[in-house]
Amino acid sequence: MLARDARPAVATERLVLRELTDDDAPAIAGGAGDPRVARFLVQVPSPYPVALARRWVGARVAWWSQQRGVTLAIARRDTPAALVGTASLRRNPNSRRAELGYWLAWPAWGHGYATEACRAVVDFGFHHFGLVRIHAQVIAGNTASCRVLDKLGMVCEGVLRSHIRKDGARHDLILYGLLHDEWRRVR
Ligand SMILES: CC(C)(COP(=O)(O)OP(=O)(O)OC[C@H]1O[C@@H](n2cnc3c(N)ncnc32)[C@H](O)[C@@H]1OP(=O)(O)O)[C@@H](O)C(=O)NCCC(=O)NCCS
Repeated sequence: MLARDARPAVATERLVLRELTDDDAPAIAGGAGDPRVARFLVQVPSPYPVALARRWVGARVAWWSQQRGVTLAIARRDTPAALVGTASLRRNPNSRRAELGYWLAWPAWGHGYATEACRAVVDFGFHHFGLVRIHAQVIAGNTASCRVLDKLGMVCEGVLRSHIRKDGARHDLILYGLLHDEWRRVR
């Protein structure tokens, strides 16, 4: 477990997951605000103004010191300053659970980066936060994201029908969950 005042960081074979900085805001606005990405993110607008992304960075960096969770920039090891996505865990400390969230800029899709990054973040969450459960929710039709969660060993736990409104239409939400014991087994 990291010391309370240590900054969060995780390395994988090809990626670094590091703390967000103000300088990441343009890459977040451009990457997450891309309609091909934003259509699958419940709360992200498209276009996504840089000023809004900057506020989002500030709020997510504060999560760490407030023990509310962690949001990490995803970057390739050889270009650690160049954010290609983010991965996060939003904690519910009383229930020892957290919600996993992630996105990658469109040019970075299809290389297994999301699976690699999320595997590291899930591992970090179970160890650092002492979580019992990590869960995720996917807008129906987001096949790539469902596949990422399947590869992590997450279990599909059900569907909330017509649960959200996005881009003027209603969508089902697919729920996934992973318990610590199951994670130990899949690892
Ligand atoms: C979901 C997302 C993060 C996946 O990123 P990625 O790095 O391309 O994912 P990975 O390469 O690790 O894995 C994707 C898997 O989905 C599969 N896949 C991708 N598109 C697919 C499709 N249309 N149909 C079926 N499978 C598909 C890939 O083949 C791969 O599986 P495989 O390893 O068995 O071949 C990325 O597409 C994204 O940012 N989407 C928009 C935002 C989003 O959906 N965030 C998650 C919200 S719940």
